[in-house]
Amino acid sequence: MTAFQPGPTPLAPPGPERDPDGVRRMFTSIAGRYDLANRLLSLGTDSYWRWVTARQLAPAVGDLSLDVACGTGDLAMALRRRGGEVIGLDFTLAMLQQARRRDRSGRLLLTGGDALRLPFPDETFDRLSVAFGVRNFADLATGLREFHRVLRPGGLAGILEFSRPRGPLAPLARFYLARIMPALGRFISGCDGPYNYLADSINTWPDPGRLAELLRAAGFVSVSWRSFTAGIAVLHLARRE
Ligand SMILES: C[S@@+](CC[C@H](N)C(=O)[O-])C[C@H]1O[C@@H](n2cnc3c(N)ncnc32)[C@H](O)[C@@H]1O
Repeated sequence: MTAFQPGPTPLAPPGPERDPDGVRRMFTSIAGRYDLANRLLSLGTDSYWRWVTARQLAPAVGDLSLDVACGTGDLAMALRRRGGEVIGLDFTLAMLQQARRRDRSGRLLLTGGDALRLPFPDETFDRLSVAFGVRNFADLATGLREFHRVLRPGGLAGILEFSRPRGPLAPLARFYLARIMPALGRFISGCDGPYNYLADSINTWPDPGRLAELLRAAGFVSVSWRSFTAGIAVLHLARRE
């Protein structure tokens, strides 16, 4: 196991987890069991991470938020509960169908679309969020520029993503991500899914400081981040000037 090394991390070349057709196939195959797998594999902590993300973004009544790569809609629904209208966007139909089924309010707006070519005019949204989606983008810089483009001046983006564990519990967390999670994920979801790639893709994912640099390069200001649960997940907040 390698120790956490702060500093620039190169982006991995596109692998199966970042090829758009492969990503769609992967999420289509696990859509029906995605939520159950999340709750069991994270022992419910993923819901807390999304709750904090929604609270930090704090959309108000009258605000319009976009949840990119919304999947089955957890973060979009958490944002919706805080206020304003929320559009959830994803490019996997089976995940959107789960989101539609789960949204008891019936008020969540859902649309198909690619995060790298967002189907919205410039300066449309007050808030933009993405949870566990950007790691799958074929081109991260393009995605971040798209986020910046569709936010209104003063608008806030929140990016929640897995990261390399740090601190005293890091060895335990790494063992869990590399060994336990892929096996359990396969068992629960009944197929080879994103859990196989998780540990590898986390290792090649930019560390928080590097992702902050990429956000600034995309035009964002006031970039900050906070880590959750031994650094397994990190929330970046960034504002459009
Ligand atoms: C790990 S799931 C996360 C879902 C949800 N945000 C959550 O917190 O549970 C990743 C989602 O990102 C979507 N996705 C990945 N790349 C995308 C892209 N370029 N455009 C739109 N959706 C994308 C996948 O279809 C999948 O539903």
